[in-house]
Amino acid sequence: MKPIRKAVLPVAGLGTRVLPATKTIPKEMMPVVDRPALQYVVDEAREAGIEHFVFVTGRNKGAIEDYFDRAFELEATLRDKNKSDILDRITAEIPAAGTTSFVRQQSPLGLGHAIWCARDVIGDEPFAILLPDVIVKAAPSCLAQMVEAYNQVGGNIIAVDPVPMDRVSSYGVIAPKAGSDTSQALIEMEAMVEKPPQAEAPSNLKITGRYILQPEIMKLLSDQAAGAGGEIQLTDAMARLMQDQSFFAYKYDGLDYDCGSKLGYFEAVLAFALDHPEIGIDARALTKNMLSE
Ligand code: G1P
Repeated sequence: MKPIRKAVLPVAGLGTRVLPATKTIPKEMMPVVDRPALQYVVDEAREAGIEHFVFVTGRNKGAIEDYFDRAFELEATLRDKNKSDILDRITAEIPAAGTTSFVRQQSPLGLGHAIWCARDVIGDEPFAILLPDVIVKAAPSCLAQMVEAYNQVGGNIIAVDPVPMDRVSSYGVIAPKAGSDTSQALIEMEAMVEKPPQAEAPSNLKITGRYILQPEIMKLLSDQAAGAGGEIQLTDAMARLMQDQSFFAYKYDGLDYDCGSKLGYFEAVLAFALDHPEIGIDARALTKNMLSE
């Protein structure tokens, strides 16, 4: 079984749900306490053993490429001022030279098309996808849990999480194989559908935005017709791949925050502030005070 070495992070989205903030800042760069949302997702992938990060970017996303570069003037200034703590942090957190690739999605044709744009860098090996809108707070990281499951069963694995039925139409939703035990973490699947009306949803298990897929998905994405919302959907191509290959849903142990929405972003900031090593205790006291006023 080939190891999971590469991850695709599609970062071309416009961030319309958090405008006007995203007019000049890529949504992936919005700070969650003191780090961009994207840094949490890169850390999750690194913890899972990912060695190469493929960012699928678009117009106005230059800040992402700069963020993952060294910043010589800033580093020199911090060194002069003896601020070694923060200096160590900003250099340690970025992936090493040669371990990032940036490919451009020239037209906003959908998530499936964004992933397909990474095909040449991915080549012929299984790979991970992390949707950076979603931050998952988990230990071990969500993708690390999935890689461990992958090492047992191989094939394709998709992270899922139960949601209330009145929210299923906002997500991809999976159908467990008839007779499978849905109380287990790993559930064999027999179908999946993107953004189904509530009445047609096959379960309440939403696709969270973490995937381990076999490279054959790229061939299917190359001729995938537009689906929900008029976009080329990853879910539709995965449903086709399921005809030939095994697919497991994985119920990870952790909490996910949808930073692409106002409330989800606020929830992420709050959750990470309350647990922050430097400000956590004060943040808790402050929040309690605010709520009791
Ligand atoms: C995408 C996927 C969907 C998944 C969701 C998770 O949708 O297409 O299957 O459930 O991410 O956040 P989007 O949110 O980009 O519309």
